[in-house]
Amino acid sequence: MQPFQNADIIRDRGAAHIAAERRIFDLYAAHNAGGHDSLFPATIRAATLSHGWGLVSAPVCAEKKRVSPETLTIRRPDDWHVHLRDGAMLKTVLPYTARQFARAVAMPNLNPPVTNAAAATAYRERIMAALPAGLRFTPLMTAYLTDATDPDELARDFADGVFAAAKLYPAHATTNSALGVTDIRKIDHVLERMAAIGMPLLVHGEVTDPEIDIFDREAVFIERVLAPLIARLPTRKIVLEHITTRTAVDFVGSAGPDLAATVTAHHLVINRNALFLGGLRPHAYCLPVAKREQDRLALRRAATSGNAKFFLGTDSAPHPVKDKECDCGCAGIFSAPAALEIYAQVFAEEGALDRFETFASLNGPRFYGLAPNDETLTLRRERWTAPKDVAVDGGAVRPFLAGQPLDWRLG
Ligand code: NCD
Ligand code: ZN
Repeated sequence: MQPFQNADIIRDRGAAHIAAERRIFDLYAAHNAGGHDSLFPATIRAATLSHGWGLVSAPVCAEKKRVSPETLTIRRPDDWHVHLRDGAMLKTVLPYTARQFARAVAMPNLNPPVTNAAAATAYRERIMAALPAGLRFTPLMTAYLTDATDPDELARDFADGVFAAAKLYPAHATTNSALGVTDIRKIDHVLERMAAIGMPLLVHGEVTDPEIDIFDREAVFIERVLAPLIARLPTRKIVLEHITTRTAVDFVGSAGPDLAATVTAHHLVINRNALFLGGLRPHAYCLPVAKREQDRLALRRAATSGNAKFFLGTDSAPHPVKDKECDCGCAGIFSAPAALEIYAQVFAEEGALDRFETFASLNGPRFYGLAPNDETLTLRRERWTAPKDVAVDGGAVRPFLAGQPLDWRLG
């Protein structure tokens, strides 16, 4: 490998950036000279150079010597957190999710949000109508909790199978969360009922206090909201969604079996440098925002550990490019087009392909009390290019790692 061969692409970056990248490439070079499978570092190198994602993976994979197989067959996975949107966007993004995942937890933050059975049933029908022929896919619907959620109604809709879970958005925490819960104590009676009937509570775990540094909002949520909630409600199933910090990994890991977490593909790949690499990078912006490198590494250890508390949830959250590249760009990373392939690449790099099925296909259903899927799918080791912009509604959405080489391919 020739480190640093793309110097022209980065010539107008600062000297510090260039020095940092040169150090990374030197690591890669040493790493490759050792005969290690270099697939992921090559991808990262390309991404760092031409796309500015700001990745630093070489030190981790340099420790691993495991050779990946050429194919990987696993039970069909599920996506335990996805934004499928509605209308033209739904039609455009759904096939990407449905070609990989048998089931997906469809997030309810539409405008207006999915707060009741009628809205959920109608949304489910729109999802099924948008599904291309030949794809088998089941959306799992979620209720958007508000200060006014009625516990009896929610319990009835869960018993009827309309809802698989309910989602707690702290008001104003993220996209379409204005009608979310203003103070968790206001819905204690709803959470008590959910705990009693075993209805999973899915949590967007960030405080919204503007005085709290945005990079601390997950850790502060755990301290101020989640830990007290768990102490108040001893029997409950909670998923801390899209965790981004070592603090969250440690908290979930040391809690009882009723607390689990989803981990996105993008938080396994980027750290917060990706937001600012050579300039402002709106397509690396999501909530919770990516954190430090030490956090990314903790997430990778958790996801690849085989621990039943951690499972796949992409949080694929498409927004039109024009809504991201503007004065106040939306939060959300659209990872669906290559989600499974990116996760597989992370597991390959970590020498943990033998635990990929556990994370992607087994831990989620086990937590939700559902059977794993019977079907299987096969990923092949094959170089391909992650899809570039996808046209939608007169504009486009940009996939995560668009145009970057990937080394695992589905189908
Ligand atoms: C999500 C969205 O766009 O709906 N955005 C995001 O950055 N993840 C909402 C969410 O899950 O926070
Ligand atoms: Zn989400």
